[in-house]
Amino acid sequence: MEISTILVVDDKPRNVHVIDQVIAAHLPDCRMVSAGSAQEGLERLRKGDIDGVLLDVQMPDVDGIEMCRRMKADPSIAHLPVILITGHEASAQLKTEGLDAGADDFLTRPMDYSELMAKIRVMLRIKHSEDQLRDTNVYLKALIADITESKKMEIRLRQSQKLESMGTLAGGVAHEINNPVNGIMNYAQLIIDKFGEGNATLSEFAGEIIKESERVVAIVHDLLSFSREEGQAYSLARLCDIVESALSLTRSLIRRDQITLHVDVSEDLPLIRCRKQQIRQVLMNLVTNACDALEVRYPNYSADAVINVTARPIRDDEGEWMRLTVEDHGCGIEPEVKERMFDPFFTTKPKDEGTGLGLSVSHGIVTEHEGRLRVESEPGDGTRFHLDLPVDRSEGGV
Ligand SMILES: Nc1ncnc2c1ncn2[C@@H]1O[C@H](COP(=O)(O)OP(=O)(O)OP(=O)(O)O)[C@@H](O)[C@H]1O
Ligand SMILES: [Mg+2]
Repeated sequence: MEISTILVVDDKPRNVHVIDQVIAAHLPDCRMVSAGSAQEGLERLRKGDIDGVLLDVQMPDVDGIEMCRRMKADPSIAHLPVILITGHEASAQLKTEGLDAGADDFLTRPMDYSELMAKIRVMLRIKHSEDQLRDTNVYLKALIADITESKKMEIRLRQSQKLESMGTLAGGVAHEINNPVNGIMNYAQLIIDKFGEGNATLSEFAGEIIKESERVVAIVHDLLSFSREEGQAYSLARLCDIVESALSLTRSLIRRDQITLHVDVSEDLPLIRCRKQQIRQVLMNLVTNACDALEVRYPNYSADAVINVTARPIRDDEGEWMRLTVEDHGCGIEPEVKERMFDPFFTTKPKDEGTGLGLSVSHGIVTEHEGRLRVESEPGDGTRFHLDLPVDRSEGGV
């Protein structure tokens, strides 16, 4: 049998004693504890283990109604049922005040003991039903969290499978394209060499063929790294060096767009084991995207067109990471773009400005490094990409 505990708060020991007698004689599944003042009562409640409160309204200092108010203002004890005990002359106004303060019921002195017992039973029934409801609530919340997590995992899995099959396909297509494109470039060069002299138009057109073919070669190069065919060695590297070399390659773009760059990457961060070229490529993609986003928001010069590149170590359930963050206050990313932006060839940019490979290539590279590429974005207000790479704790790593 589960024993319930009732707290009786009354400054008169005789009243407490009478209630104790009634409970002991008629409610075998109840025990009583008491407090002589509101202060003492609140302290006892906060210790836990109480199932309901019988509260005398007339007490010196803090009265029963005020104590009830204080109980209801404290989330740890607010849920406990309260019966107020009033004198027989209690006015309707006092009762209204008691109900407003959060009391569940009233008992009037002199007390009818069978009414006292009945009301205690009802109070305990309410308490137990509420407990059950709370347990069910906790269970349901955990269940919902579980479902949400497994849904997220399913989406992640689908995403990585999609990228993997796209990778295989892209690798195959890239190989097929590479040779004929090289042939086209060679022939265009031959045209210039053989017939170009004295024919400016022909030279110009053949030159355009070479230029456009070079664009194709660049895309094929991206595709090949996307399909992970690039055989680069892993080595220990300082993030600050990688950042420096990536930024030196994008500086002209940044200058052209009149963007301010803040870099905060310390020299004495833990080393990371990576393929430097690839991480540099990821960073360049992120910075280029940030420039484009700022360009959309600020077509003319603005002091707010700023990119922040920062690095710091972080630790979470999944391990220790070096987090490289590229933050812009550009146009931000709409949810429907966010869903698809890692897909190969997905771009929102005009045809000759974006191939839509930057993020999918970056994702492939980061996954291969057992890292994470995460994004936080506020449409209209900017974007933060976090590139997390595992910290190398092996010999020489730190
Ligand atoms: N920092 C950013 N702010 C706003 N949108 C972004 C940002 N980064 C990426 N995007 C969105 O994600 C899309 C895909 O980016 P991704 O880098 O893969 O391709 P792209 O920049 O369009 O083309 P590419 O990088 O191949 O030249 C972009 O077209 C853009 O809509
Ligand atoms: Mg891009």
